[in-house]
Amino acid sequence: MFILAPSILAADFKKLGEQVETVSKAGAEYIHIDVMDGEFVPSISFGMPVITSIRSCTDKIFDVHMMVDEPGRYINDIRKAGADLICVHQEACLHLDRTIGQIRETGAKAAVALNPATPLHVLDYILPELDMVLLMSVNPGFGGQKFIPYTIQKIQALRKIIEDRGLHTDIQIDGGVTASNVGQLIEAGANIFVAGSAVYRGDAAANVKEFLDVFQRYEK
Ligand code: DX5
Ligand code: ZN
Repeated sequence: MFILAPSILAADFKKLGEQVETVSKAGAEYIHIDVMDGEFVPSISFGMPVITSIRSCTDKIFDVHMMVDEPGRYINDIRKAGADLICVHQEACLHLDRTIGQIRETGAKAAVALNPATPLHVLDYILPELDMVLLMSVNPGFGGQKFIPYTIQKIQALRKIIEDRGLHTDIQIDGGVTASNVGQLIEAGANIFVAGSAVYRGDAAANVKEFLDVFQRYEK
């Protein structure tokens, strides 16, 4: 099954609740929430209070992408605010195993994100502990950037590793994903797709449907 995770970073914040409801009703299964600290990435977005206040808008999975240095400091608070899945960057954690353990202790699903240039082998030992790997297909920090083409090879390589090791890890792609390139990403082996501008630019419900139509063509 393929999953669409609209990124609320591209939503209109003056009607954020409504915008979360719109994509939930249209069939998005995850809500992707980009937390940025102005240190790990240049920009600052939002944090716990925003997550708490939109939690009542939907019962879909809250997928929190922490673009934050040493995110272990905030895991408990992010979980309390309503995260179902917490994703931390390998590049931001000095003690990644400990941070993943902290996420597990809260009962949330655990994921690791890799920047475009970070090689897959950094996951060699931690992979069996993860529910999901997020491969960044742009440099994190901003919405609306162009998809980096070499990500395709990275998806293929990760899917092969997961299969060879008999694991069931999800592969999420984030950055520059559109209804036009998502088919290619499915073929490469990804199964969860973050889309910010491609969902929230224009008619969000119609854009979600466009993604779901592509998914349907690939469902076995
Ligand atoms: C980028 C964020 C993304 C972003 C994606 O740092 O992690 O989730 O919102 O936006 P688009 O889909 O517009 O590239
Ligand atoms: Zn993201």
